[in-house]
Amino acid sequence: MKDILENIQSISEEFDLSLTNVSNTSEIMDLKVRFLGKKGKVTSLLRLLGSLPAEKRPAAGNAVNELRNTIESIIQEKTLALKNDELRQMELQDLIDVTLPAKSRPSGGFHPVVEATNDVLKIMTGLGFTVVLGPEIEEDYYNFEALNIPPHHPARDMQDTFYFDDGRVLRTHTSPVEVRSMLKYGAPIRIICPGRVYRKDSDPTHSPMFHQLEGLLIDEDISIADLKGCLDVLLDSFFNKELKKRYRASYFPFTEPSLELDIECIACSGSDPGCRICRGSGWLEICGLGMTHPNVLRSGNIDPEKYNGFAWGLGLDRLAMLKYGLNDLRTLFEGNVPYLLSGREA
Ligand code: DAH
Repeated sequence: MKDILENIQSISEEFDLSLTNVSNTSEIMDLKVRFLGKKGKVTSLLRLLGSLPAEKRPAAGNAVNELRNTIESIIQEKTLALKNDELRQMELQDLIDVTLPAKSRPSGGFHPVVEATNDVLKIMTGLGFTVVLGPEIEEDYYNFEALNIPPHHPARDMQDTFYFDDGRVLRTHTSPVEVRSMLKYGAPIRIICPGRVYRKDSDPTHSPMFHQLEGLLIDEDISIADLKGCLDVLLDSFFNKELKKRYRASYFPFTEPSLELDIECIACSGSDPGCRICRGSGWLEICGLGMTHPNVLRSGNIDPEKYNGFAWGLGLDRLAMLKYGLNDLRTLFEGNVPYLLSGREA
């Protein structure tokens, strides 16, 4: 009996001591197992009771039970307190200061040429034009021959054109899509074709790859006035302004007559002799155009006695640069995102 009472005393002291070292819920669980678990110290004491003489058992039993109850309630209290502490810690860690500024995410954007192209396509589809695409690796025939460009024409010069060994070329303009479309759809036809074109050229105003927009309309009794009306809508809508325009006589093998169109300078409207965009001329060359040559209609299997029409070829990079105030063509293709975006915000 004395043994048991001493045991109770020492277990109680050991428990008190261990408790002072407990600092979290997992440690208190361990402590609980150590004292109250199946093989715990208090549980072993209860087992010892059986070895006592019958008359001593009740008193000893009471004492052990008291110890167990005390330990149980201390553990319960301590567990609760530790749980609360831990919750508060977690709350403090996850505390959100709603007055802090939000993390900003850099937003993406369309490349200026893509944006300009989309704008133009929207305008022209509004006029009933259908968007078509053609191959960038093109047959010599469609790039030159079918467009009334004879074999000795300077545009075929090895200097300008990227040739493949098999005689095919990287298309030098979007015009080959004209004949491809005439053969595919016949007349009447109204198409636009945006796309990449390639020439052996590289300086501040020329890139070996650039973008054009071809337009073609073939029907009965079409005149230059129709062509002029189309380009007026295209350019005035694109720049959001009724622009002054002038047409100059020109030469393209695939049109007759051929013209070039200049628009008033977007930056200075001709008022600044030192303007870096128009170099003081007040005019910007914007596109080649003309009435489709009968030979081109024939290549497209269309009867020039019955149908006529017009075409134009427009530089999309130039349009984008003018609209967004960018000044070096090559930067358009160098992936310098801050430059492209800052130019557009200006
Ligand atoms: N294909 C010509 C070029 O790349 C541009 C052009 C001029 C296209 C007149 C046309 C046109 O359709 O009628 O320089």
